[in-house]
Amino acid sequence: MSPDGAGSVPPALTVRELRWSDFDAIRETYLRLYDERESNPEIGIHLFAVRPTYADEVAWFANLYRSVLSGEAVVSVGVRDGVVVGHCTVRRLEPGPDSETAHNGVLGIVVDAPHRGTGVGRAILADALRQCEGRFEVVRLSVFATNRRARQLYEEFGFVYVGTMPRMVHRGDRYIDEELMVKTIGPPNR
Ligand SMILES: CC(C)(COP(=O)(O)OP(=O)(O)OC[C@H]1O[C@@H](n2cnc3c(N)ncnc32)[C@H](O)[C@@H]1OP(=O)(O)O)[C@@H](O)C(=O)NCCC(=O)NCCS
Repeated sequence: MSPDGAGSVPPALTVRELRWSDFDAIRETYLRLYDERESNPEIGIHLFAVRPTYADEVAWFANLYRSVLSGEAVVSVGVRDGVVVGHCTVRRLEPGPDSETAHNGVLGIVVDAPHRGTGVGRAILADALRQCEGRFEVVRLSVFATNRRARQLYEEFGFVYVGTMPRMVHRGDRYIDEELMVKTIGPPNR
């Protein structure tokens, strides 16, 4: 975790880097979004039409973990009372020595529903952005146009709105626009 990461978080919440043993908790958080989608079609995360298989999830997590080890991704994990309650990832867009876009990171964040609104998102976002310094020059994210509170949070961290992707998500019988936001971090140390 970044040295100053613990100072701004509520008691009993710690923020740390990803561990291999986080797989089950992160998978369960993700799968609960599928249940949540039933009652809240505006849940602001891209999901598949049907839940991924266990094998799909293992492959996804292994890829993420490998990316962290190779420096192609940063992950900040929120832990409260020993339980993983949220994670924020920033993954390199098109890694590789020949890539002209490798200085861009793409951010995703999710907090387990019972812990939302308690400071977890703010803490893991802050930590992930600190980890991005020297690694990415620009961080981008997309947020459902209906997710006003999330957009407000990103604006507080210096993300600026750069455009709307109309009908980006087709969920059930409706389309949802997505807004693209970016934050310039600075040049990497290389
Ligand atoms: C968006 C999300 C990551 C924010 O994390 P969080 O832990 O709820 O946020 P925090 O408790 O740190 O609150 C920080 C700010 O986030 C904003 N916020 C966004 N969504 C919120 C929510 N559902 N509940 C509470 N605050 C929310 C508020 O502006 C809040 O500011 P405030 O403290 O001045 O009210 C979280 O609500 C979540 O996982 N939502 C579902 C998935 C999602 O929408 N992910 C974002 C994809 S772009």
